[in-house]
Amino acid sequence: MKQLGLLLLACILAFSASAQRANYNIIPLPKEVKVDTTQFFTLANGMGIAYDESDAENIRVAQFLQEWVKQATGVELQLTAADKKAPICLSLIVLAKKGKKSKQPVELTEQQKESYTLTVNKEGVLISAYEPAGLFRAAQTLRKSLPIAKGKSVELPYVQITDQPRFTYRGVLLDCGRHFFSVEFIKQFLDAMALHGCNQFHWHLTEDQGWRFEVKALPDLAKKGSVREKTVIGPSRMRIYDNIPYGGYYTQEECRDIVKYAAERYINVVPEIDMPGHMQSALHVFPNLGCTGGPYPVAPHWGVMREVLCGGNPQTLDFLKTVFGELCDVFPSPYIHIGGDECPKERWQKCAKCQAKIKELGLTAENVQVEGSDGRGSQDGRSAENKLQSYINHEIEQFLASKGRSLIGWDEILAGGLTEDAIVMSWRGTKGGVAAAKLNHRVIMSPNVFAYLDHPQLKDYGKQPRTTDSYIVSCSKIYSFEPLVPDELTKEQSDCILGYQGNLWTEQVAYPEHALYQLLPRLGAMSEVQWCNPEQKDFENFKARLPQLKKLYDKMGLVYCNEVE
Ligand code: ACM
Ligand code: ZN
Repeated sequence: MKQLGLLLLACILAFSASAQRANYNIIPLPKEVKVDTTQFFTLANGMGIAYDESDAENIRVAQFLQEWVKQATGVELQLTAADKKAPICLSLIVLAKKGKKSKQPVELTEQQKESYTLTVNKEGVLISAYEPAGLFRAAQTLRKSLPIAKGKSVELPYVQITDQPRFTYRGVLLDCGRHFFSVEFIKQFLDAMALHGCNQFHWHLTEDQGWRFEVKALPDLAKKGSVREKTVIGPSRMRIYDNIPYGGYYTQEECRDIVKYAAERYINVVPEIDMPGHMQSALHVFPNLGCTGGPYPVAPHWGVMREVLCGGNPQTLDFLKTVFGELCDVFPSPYIHIGGDECPKERWQKCAKCQAKIKELGLTAENVQVEGSDGRGSQDGRSAENKLQSYINHEIEQFLASKGRSLIGWDEILAGGLTEDAIVMSWRGTKGGVAAAKLNHRVIMSPNVFAYLDHPQLKDYGKQPRTTDSYIVSCSKIYSFEPLVPDELTKEQSDCILGYQGNLWTEQVAYPEHALYQLLPRLGAMSEVQWCNPEQKDFENFKARLPQLKKLYDKMGLVYCNEVE
């Protein structure tokens, strides 16, 4: 009996000890983790976090770490500025070029800017990085390693972690055109992204179904263009509507607030104004910009609309420059997304203004094989109309370049010929991306069958909310993607691939909880492709690491799909 009691006590002690113990089996997996599970540093209430006071960003990272440790474990740490003896220390590495007398800063690669080392030994926790972004990624690593517990101390096994991301562009798109999401939710979305090491928030701000970006010079654009009279219920082709007006847009002040919130989490916001297709909400406000003159309703249902901006009307370019000008004022992003997808040319073929412009520019159809042509607007390959779209892209590219920005477009921008510096976002598979990389253009891979988060994640449709149901994008599918497409690209060409992005379209996603359900845990799977080297990837191992991350999702109030396929 006594022996049984002792055994029970030992079990309870072992359990409580392990419940308060960190482990480094996190998502995404760091590049190198050398752990010694026989020795521990005990993180306890009242211990200090030292940071370099000279830099406001370091203070913020220290504050994040303090908040996260408390959130996960209940342990309360104190910020102690540059106290060398503090057990937790955030330190920036000062670089100087070797052999140079002057302390000229060394050029870091984008990956090095986010790299860090995290050491736990008898002295405590030392995080060091070249830039605050690296300190932030390290703090997230420590956060994800912590047990979710409530106590006064936590045991951290000794470890040496060396980490840096594989890709410089690790993105997620949220479509706020089909459905409007609050600023508060977008901040939660950004927190979820930061947790997974993502660094690019692609904000899809305009759609046929709603214009969401305030343009001060054109006040009616957001006021009137953001509101549709009704929304289709269920399959779009059934044309059954709810008859409830739906709207919402972001003021420039709110956009700046989002940009700041994202930047504090080392996320860049890539805004998208989708043109010249997907513009029916703008045509509703400015029918003179359409080929037929309208009237045009803000679209109440989903699909590819044939009403697009008129490519031959000079006012179209004036309009676009006004919009992109204000967009650049609000968003400091080096990349500006111009959309370019799904622009049927039916109207342009018959429009006198479009045809006159084609003639004026001397554009003629060419018999050139265009990758990715699929009947959704670029079906005519290098047609004169597709070349007219490239002409508009060229004008906007020059405009953006004058503001120091690069243009990103969906892979349809290949059809009429790529503009000089365009970055291609490959969504209709990888073909467009491969073709662009072969032309030495930068590419972001976002192939629908691997990256469309609006699609179901489980085979059994009955187990999940209704979504875009033509194919399944499971965690394992997302995980299996290799962005460098080694069978088709040489090493040099694959250097053009900036990264991988998941897209959360929202035709069928109207509520924050549903959006999070679509996002998680698939973003976990995607983050390993974005962050880890291919040889580290192991889906079974990923699944084994997921329960720990889900506990943190719970703690953060993030809804997720509880099954993984
Ligand atoms: C897209 O899905 N139309 C980019
Ligand atoms: Zn026209």
